[in-house]
Amino acid sequence: MESNTRRSLLRGAAAAASGGFGAAQTREIKSAFIGVGVRGGSLLKQALAQDNIKVAAICDIDVQTRDQAAAAASRDTPKSFAEWKAVLELNDVEAVFIGTPCDLHAEMAAACLAAGKYVYCEKPLGITPEQVDRVLKASRRAKTFLQIGQQLRYFPGVREAVRQIHSGITGQTHIIKAHRHGSRSRPQDGGPRPSPQAETRTAWYADVKRSGDLIVENAVHNIDACNWIANSRPVSAYGHGKKYFPKPIPPGTVMMDAFSVEYIYENGMHCDYSQISFHPRNLKTLPSGMWYTVFGDKGSVYMTHSSAMFHDIYGESEPRDMLPGGAVERDTAVADFFACIREKRQPFADIKVGAVAALTAIMGREAIYKGRSVTWKELGVDV
Ligand SMILES: NC(=O)c1ccc[n+]([C@@H]2O[C@H](COP(=O)([O-])OP(=O)(O)OC[C@H]3O[C@@H](n4cnc5c(N)ncnc54)[C@H](O)[C@@H]3O)[C@@H](O)[C@H]2O)c1
Repeated sequence: MESNTRRSLLRGAAAAASGGFGAAQTREIKSAFIGVGVRGGSLLKQALAQDNIKVAAICDIDVQTRDQAAAAASRDTPKSFAEWKAVLELNDVEAVFIGTPCDLHAEMAAACLAAGKYVYCEKPLGITPEQVDRVLKASRRAKTFLQIGQQLRYFPGVREAVRQIHSGITGQTHIIKAHRHGSRSRPQDGGPRPSPQAETRTAWYADVKRSGDLIVENAVHNIDACNWIANSRPVSAYGHGKKYFPKPIPPGTVMMDAFSVEYIYENGMHCDYSQISFHPRNLKTLPSGMWYTVFGDKGSVYMTHSSAMFHDIYGESEPRDMLPGGAVERDTAVADFFACIREKRQPFADIKVGAVAALTAIMGREAIYKGRSVTWKELGVDV
């Protein structure tokens, strides 16, 4: 037994030394980061924590943000740029992270794919059907891949709960009710503390032409989880929403603070999704936060991003914990991005996931703006 273990260890060491599997798993990947504000800065830190990743370039139009990120990556002495196209010329850079405002993702991602880079692009893939289509076309021509920053797909608890739903725990699944509710701070309490980038972030985030509005910028994570649970894509959407506080403003002008949307799926399922930013803290009968309830002919699953309970349809047994070992909201998306490059496999949150999620959110937004049902076909994008 002991000598077998020793022999296999020696074989492993020899394989690594000769450029075998050990070396393949840890070969250096040079990376560049475009847009290193709140999210891009966090992706940079995650990348720095991975084995054998070299940060070769940092790009941001804001000099202070760029310098901060370059300092965080000083170990690797990265090049520093204000112009993102400079990254395309760096032949030794294999991977590019895009953490810029939402309206810039598509152009940057398409150009990086065309330049032969692997791309980790923050969500949403695009904020219009044309933008989504542009990246899809670039991806079809590329030998590399794009991973979308929809990291919920990498949370182990969510994966396990969705696996059990797909394996039939709820029987034939018919309906998803999902929601993301948060509470307001009293105006005199000042709300959350602003980040160092608060001013620039507020400017693009509040501008629906740049962010895509709340449903596309923000709810795309939750809407993608609904698509994943449904194991299908919607054929139509209908919804309502606006900015309600301090006075109602019609949708399409400033970012909504609440909306509800209903999706009908290709497989006949439907999904009611609601997002509200004024859920009173003491309203507990309807929980705040993010959750999904999945109804089928054998029962229902009530899940968050770290818990999942099954309830049989007649309520004959105690609700069953589907994740008895517990589950933390652990994000392995960045680690898996590098593993996919090294192992030459497609990411789980690939371009198709990103395109369908963005288009689902765009379809919901257009239904809200137009005050009528909008169909997938109307979007005119082939995914
Ligand atoms: N996956 C997640 O959980 C998550 C969380 C937050 C934000 N995001 C997404 O990340 C993106 C960025 O959001 P954020 O909160 O970090 O915003 P931010 O404003 O903090 O960061 C954006 C950065 O991009 C830079 N930038 C703008 N135009 C540029 C250009 N032409 N070239 C290079 N840099 C440019 C800005 O100077 C800024 O530093 C958005 O798409 C957002 O939706 C994702």
